[in-house]
Amino acid sequence: MEFHVYDTAREACEAAGFLFAAQITRKGDSILGLATGSTPIPAYEMMVEWHKRGVLDFSRIRTFNLDEYVGIDYKNPLSYHAFMEENLFGKVNIRKENIHLPSGNAAADGEAYDKMIRDAGGIDIQLLGIGRNGHIGFNEPADEFTYGTHVVTLTEDTIEANARFFKSADEVPRQAISMGVGNIMAAKCVVLVATGANKAQAVYDTIRGPITPRVPASILQLHPCCVILADREAASLMKD
Ligand code: F6R
Repeated sequence: MEFHVYDTAREACEAAGFLFAAQITRKGDSILGLATGSTPIPAYEMMVEWHKRGVLDFSRIRTFNLDEYVGIDYKNPLSYHAFMEENLFGKVNIRKENIHLPSGNAAADGEAYDKMIRDAGGIDIQLLGIGRNGHIGFNEPADEFTYGTHVVTLTEDTIEANARFFKSADEVPRQAISMGVGNIMAAKCVVLVATGANKAQAVYDTIRGPITPRVPASILQLHPCCVILADREAASLMKD
C-alpha cells in the first residue's frame, strides 16, 4: 500500500488525476472505475482540462461507476448519473455506450452489473473516496464483506454526511446500489483519496487498523496495487 500526504485537498486529488491521466495515456481503451462525491471533483476537472487541451482522448475509454441511489431517477440532478454527466461525461469525448452506472431502479440486477465489468475485462484503475465511517462505494460497516454489486441500506452517518447535497436529511434516499468489496478488490489498481479532518479516523483505521468489515476500506491492506492520497488533515492521525 502506497500512502502519500499533500498540503491541500486539491493537491491530493490532483495526484489522483495524474494517475488516471497516465492510465488513459498508456492504454487508450482502459476500463476506469469511477466515484462520485465531493472528493474526486478536482481530478475530474483536471481530466476535462487535459481533454480540452488535446492531451486526453476518451473515445475508447469505458467506465463503471461505483454506486447510485435507489429510487432516484437517473435524470434527477441529485442522481450520480447526473453528477457524472456534469463533472466528466458531458465534457469529454466519451461514447455514451461506454458509460456504465448501476441502475437506481429498486429491482436492479447487481449480478448483471458484475458480469458487464467482467466481460469488459475488469477494471484497470478504480477511484475511491472514503466515508467518515470507513465505507468505500456504499459498502457500509457490517458484520461481513459483500462481494458483488448489491443494494445497501445507508447508515444514519452516511445519510447525515450526504444531506448537504439535498434540501434536508429527510430527502436523502435510504438505499443505494453499490459495487461490492469484491468488485473493488478485483480492480487491477485502486486509488483512494481522503481529504478533510473528518476522514482522519477512517484513514488511520484503514491503514493501521485490523482488516475488518466494520471498516470496509481496511480490506485494501490486502490489495496488491493500492495508493492512498490524503491531505494533511485526513492524515493527521498518522503521525508516527
Ligand atoms: C461515491 C462513493 C462514496 C464516497 C464517500 C465520500 O461514489 O462511493 O464512498 O466516495 O462517501 O464522499 P465525499 O467525497 O463526498 O466525502
